[in-house]
Parts: sequence; C-alpha cells; structure tokens
Amino acid sequence: MIKQFYITPFFLVFIVFMSSIVNAQKDRIVEEKIDSILSLLTLEEKVAMCHAQSKFSTPGVPRLGIPEVWMSDGPHGVRAEINWDNWGYAEWSNDSITAFPALTCLASTFNPDLAKSYGISVGEEARYRKKDVLLGPGVNIYRTPLNGRNFEYMGEDPYLASKLVVPYVKGVQENGVAACVKHFALNNQELWRDHINVEVSDRALYEIYLPAFKASVIEGGAWAMMGAYNKFRGQYCCHNELLLNKILKTDWGFDGVVISDWGGAHNTYEAAMFGLDMEMGTGTDGLGTTTLNHYEHYYLASPFLKLLKKGEVDEAIVNDKARRILRLMLRTNMNSNRPLGKMNNVEHHHVARKVATEGIVLLKNKENFFPIEDREGLTIAVIGENAKRSMTAGGGSSELKPQFEISPLEGIKKRYKNAQIVHAMGFASGPSVYDQILPSPYDADSLKVEAIEIAKKADVVLFIGGLSKSHLQDCEGADRKQFELPFGQDDLLNDIMAVNKNIGVVLITGNAVEMPWLDKINGLIQGWYLGSIAGDALADVISGDVNPSGKLPFSFPIKLKDNAAHYFGELSYPGDSINQFYKEDILVGYRWHDTKKIKPLFAFGEGMSYTSFELSDFKLNKKTYTKGEQITISGTVSNTGIVDGAEVVQVYVGKSKSKVKRALKELKGFKKIVVKRGLSEPVQITINVNDLAFYDEAIKDWNLEKGNYTAYIGNASNNISKKIKFEIK
Ligand code: BGC
Repeated sequence: MIKQFYITPFFLVFIVFMSSIVNAQKDRIVEEKIDSILSLLTLEEKVAMCHAQSKFSTPGVPRLGIPEVWMSDGPHGVRAEINWDNWGYAEWSNDSITAFPALTCLASTFNPDLAKSYGISVGEEARYRKKDVLLGPGVNIYRTPLNGRNFEYMGEDPYLASKLVVPYVKGVQENGVAACVKHFALNNQELWRDHINVEVSDRALYEIYLPAFKASVIEGGAWAMMGAYNKFRGQYCCHNELLLNKILKTDWGFDGVVISDWGGAHNTYEAAMFGLDMEMGTGTDGLGTTTLNHYEHYYLASPFLKLLKKGEVDEAIVNDKARRILRLMLRTNMNSNRPLGKMNNVEHHHVARKVATEGIVLLKNKENFFPIEDREGLTIAVIGENAKRSMTAGGGSSELKPQFEISPLEGIKKRYKNAQIVHAMGFASGPSVYDQILPSPYDADSLKVEAIEIAKKADVVLFIGGLSKSHLQDCEGADRKQFELPFGQDDLLNDIMAVNKNIGVVLITGNAVEMPWLDKINGLIQGWYLGSIAGDALADVISGDVNPSGKLPFSFPIKLKDNAAHYFGELSYPGDSINQFYKEDILVGYRWHDTKKIKPLFAFGEGMSYTSFELSDFKLNKKTYTKGEQITISGTVSNTGIVDGAEVVQVYVGKSKSKVKRALKELKGFKKIVVKRGLSEPVQITINVNDLAFYDEAIKDWNLEKGNYTAYIGNASNNISKKIKFEIK
C-alpha cells in the first residue's frame, strides 16, 4: 500500500524558514566573494568594467581570469552577431536562431505559463550563443498606437504586463543569463526618444508606468535593467536620481546592473552619481580618430577615472558599480553551474508555435467565416504583401536572423492540401527614408489588377496585410505617421470587396490601425509578428486546427483622437520636441475608453473563439475585507459550443465614490482556462486587497481607500457578465 504524505502548515512554514536561511547564507558567500575580488582590482580595472569595449561587450580583467560580459538583443530571440565597432552584421554562419513571436503576441495569450516557457527557451538560445545578458523584455506601456516600438512591449495594462514579465525574466535567468528589462522608464514613443522630456504625475508613474518594472525586480528578480533614452522631469533616464537611485535601487532594492540604452548616457558626473552602472553605445562606430581606444572616451571611462582620482567622485561610487557588475557575473558568466543552452531545437519551435497560436486574436467572424475548410473545389485567394514578407527582419534592434521562417502563404499552402490557393501581392510596401515612405518600385495599378482578377474567381478572399516593420511602420527609431493602413491597402480592400464580398482580413501588425472597411468584411484576425513559425501558426488558426483564444492586450480606438494621449493634443503626444505632458494621467487605454464612455473599435481583453463560453455562478468568498486579506472570486466557465477551447476570465475592480479620480475599472486578476466542448470547469481567481490601493500623491505612498468597490467579471473589458459589490473596512 502506498503511504500518503501530508505537508502540514507547520512543516511548510519550516521549509520556507529554512530556505530563507539557506538563501541568506548563499547571499553572504556571494558578497564575501565580491569583497575579495574587489580588493584585488585597481581603480582603472573597476572603471573599465563600467563601460563598453565593443558594441555589445564590456571588458573583464584578464589578469584575474574575470571574463568579459557579452550581451545581445532581445527580446524575441537572440540577435545575429554585430561587428565589434559598428552596427553592421558580422555575417557569421552559426548565429541563426529561433524567432519567437513578438511580445504583443505573448501578452495576448494571457498565459503566464507560456511566458515562462518563452523565457526559458529564449534564455537557452542566448546561453548557447554565449550571451550573458539578454537585452529584453520590454515593458513600456502602450500609450499611443503610433509608437513604432509597441510590438516589442506587453500592451497597455500594468497588471497584465507584470504577470507576464515575471515568468519571462525567471525563465531567461534559469539559464544563467541575465534578463535586462527595458526601457526604464517612460519611453512610450520613438519620436524624439533621445531627448524628449516626459512630465507625468506621480500617480500615473506609480500606477501605470512602473508596476511591470517593479514586478520584474521584486517578483522576477531581474539582474539587469536598461535605462531609457528620454528624459523624465528634466533628467535623462539613464542617469536619473529619482528613477534609478531612489525608486529602483532604494525602494525596490534592485541589486543588479543598470545598463544604459545604447548612447543613452550624456554626462560623466550624472552617470556616476545618478545610478548608471554600465555605459553602452556612446559615440560608437570605429576606434575613433585619436590614439586612445574610442571606448576610453565614454563618460564612464577616462573622464570618470579623472573625477575619481581628483576626489570629485568618491571611490565608494565605483565600488558600488563594480560590485553590482561582479554580482551579475557571479550569476552568469562566473557561475560554473549554469546550463549549456540549446538552440533551434524542436522544443523551442514548439514553444514559438504555441505562443503564436495562443496569441492570435480572432476579432470578427460573421457567418463563421473562420475556420476556412480545406475542401476540393474551393479556391482561396490570398492577397497581400504580408502573406510573403519576412517579419523577423526589420523593426530595429529586435530584428532576427532565424534559421528558417515560414511565411503565412507557405503555412497556408502546406496546410491546405485540397483547396486551391492562389496568391497576388496586391500592394507593395515602399522603402522608407528619413521621415517619409517612398512609393514602391512596383506598379501599384498592375498589382491591384492582378489581385482583383484572382479575387473575382475565388470563393474566399484572405487579405493578409498590415504594417511592414520598416521605418515609420512598426519600427524602432520613429513613430508611425498615420493611423490608417499604408501603401493603399484601404483602397485596395474596397476594390476587392466590389468583386468578392466573401473576404477575411489578417492583420500583421504590432499596433492598432484604422479600419474603415470593418463593416464590410466577414472575418478579422489580429496576426501580430509571429516569428519563425508564423505561417504554420496562422494556418493552425485559419483552418481551425487550433481554436483561437488570444485577447487584445491593448484597445483599438476607432479614430486616433479617441485614444487618450491623442485626445489632449500635441503637447500630450508627441510633445513640442522638448517636453511632453501625459495629460490623460492614469486614464490610459481601456481606463480612458471605459471612464469617458468612448467606444473603442476593439476593447482591451477582447477576442473570440470558434466555440462559445458562458460564465456563471460567480461569487466572492466574503462581502467585506480588510487590509492584507485575499479576495477569492470563484465561478464556472462552460463551453457551450461544439469545439474545445480556452477562455480568459478577467476580473476588473472599480470604486465609484473615491476621494481621487479613478478609472471605472482596472484589471486585477485573470485566468486562462481550457474547457472541453459541452463541459464546465470551475475557476478561481484571488486578489490581494492591498493591490487595490491607489498611489496617494499627498502622502507619497500607496493608500488603501475604505468603502464600497465593485468587481467586474467577464471575458473582455467590454463584456462584463457579472458585477459584484464588496466592501473594504
Ligand atoms: C535600443 C535598445 C537595444 C539597443 C542595443 C537601442 O537603440 O533602444 O532596445 O537593446 O539599442 O541594440
């Protein structure tokens, strides 16, 4: 007979207590090791560790066997090798990797377990490529659909981003590779990113823009953080007293390394004093024209050494930086126990495909347009450049060199063995140069004529369009200039609809776009940038092999002015090139749409399935709560349709009477749950009462307001099936 073992609460407390003693002991040993190394280092050697020696590495101390630190972008895979001194690719033949879906797609999965698998896999690839720091993930909040880099982030909600960044970071770091969370903070647009000064209230800062960074440090234990390019309250974020010294290092107890964004440091004294530990990318390209190694001119190089030698900066300052860097090394390249890593293995492809299929969002499905059946006699016209375009190239520093990439068209052709698939480009993206998009070298009219010809003869039209991931189109370094689809896609869609009304659209973007044609199409899929296996993943969902379960991680406004940042005019977005003011304050994304009753085109948390779900019997475990207590929300999710599927139960909380301005409701809990057709599953979500506090500017601290609250339970921010009142005493 098998004996059963029970873990008593007492035993559990004992285990936690013992492990905290063991951890404290381990920490002490590490710190003692660092002390002993520090005592061997010269001032010059300590300073050298604080700045780059090449585009992506910092020097070690060879005489002591202290290794170099090697970094790579991030966050969707490990970037190809870059030249020592310039941004050119080194053209190695062994640096092709697995490209994972963009972080917007990961956010759409609403699945922290998948974020963990993502982190582990990308960390394994980084480790295999001998990287010590992975430059990612990015958790800047989605504030405007024009931000060129939204696709690298986790959406507009601080709670969702927090829940996903933590497992990502942990997963990466399990490999002895540091995650470098970026860009700290308020880098919410690309336009003027290198100098714009962001002015934002303390409330919005603490409630909206910082929580995901905080979670990555406190819960995720991130070992590195990248300072943003922009300024905050007049000081560059890469050397910002409030952000780095006070909030990150003091309040959150961050013991890792603050790395500058590439070229984000601007002043030696400030960099030394205001929290920067490692300076990267300043005045790059070549070894310079002087006899000195170019890297010696970095702010945290010779000029820093000079200040230290003159006594204008205390040696304790460089000791703290060197200590942090050595700590990062003992966690990474000086940790002889770290695993060896893996690259391009089937498990990674599997994770990439799983994230992609779970993140794809079905937004419209008139008369069950999707899934499209694979049957003899059916002709599917796949129209659009994005059906064939590589979406791992482009986009800026996150671009990747995958070992292979399956385009949507390839994936569809592979999956559809009986139906006839025909393709026409329909439109072609033009090259973009500084500030403008040039017309494509293709003749737009003949592309259109060709597309219309195949659309006429087809039973189904699948338009695969969106943005191009090139300059001004979902790409680092610039924002989009227009909300509508580029390259004449809106007109093209109208012309196609005139000849064939049975049309579905797949949008390959990392951002919301304007959709003047939405009423006239039958199906809409938000397809993101899906990485190596993009085509297979899309075909999985289009064919119905996988039932979609993705939910939007940000709101799609109908028109740009409906977005809060844009509502307040130019000083709010993009600013006057010197300053910008986040006038919408805490009302970002759905908080704005909900509170101001401005209907979005698609709402945060929205996403359809091929089956139908019913949420029932939802209740709270109590009516009143006090500080520190857990609120338990439980209920049932029933799959009332004819296929298996997964639903995301979302719990928002709001407080109508409050002494401060509040959003109508805010996401405070969610759970993704798989339910077989015809069956029901119980679901339970817990919220800590303390997490309902607001940031009180008067007392400069979190404040839990007493009184009546409402829990909103639903499967989208705009589809609430139950409201339950409760009280905090
Ligand atoms: C980007 C960072 C990136 C770095 C290195 C910068 O321009 O903002 O996200 O990690 O370059 O490529």
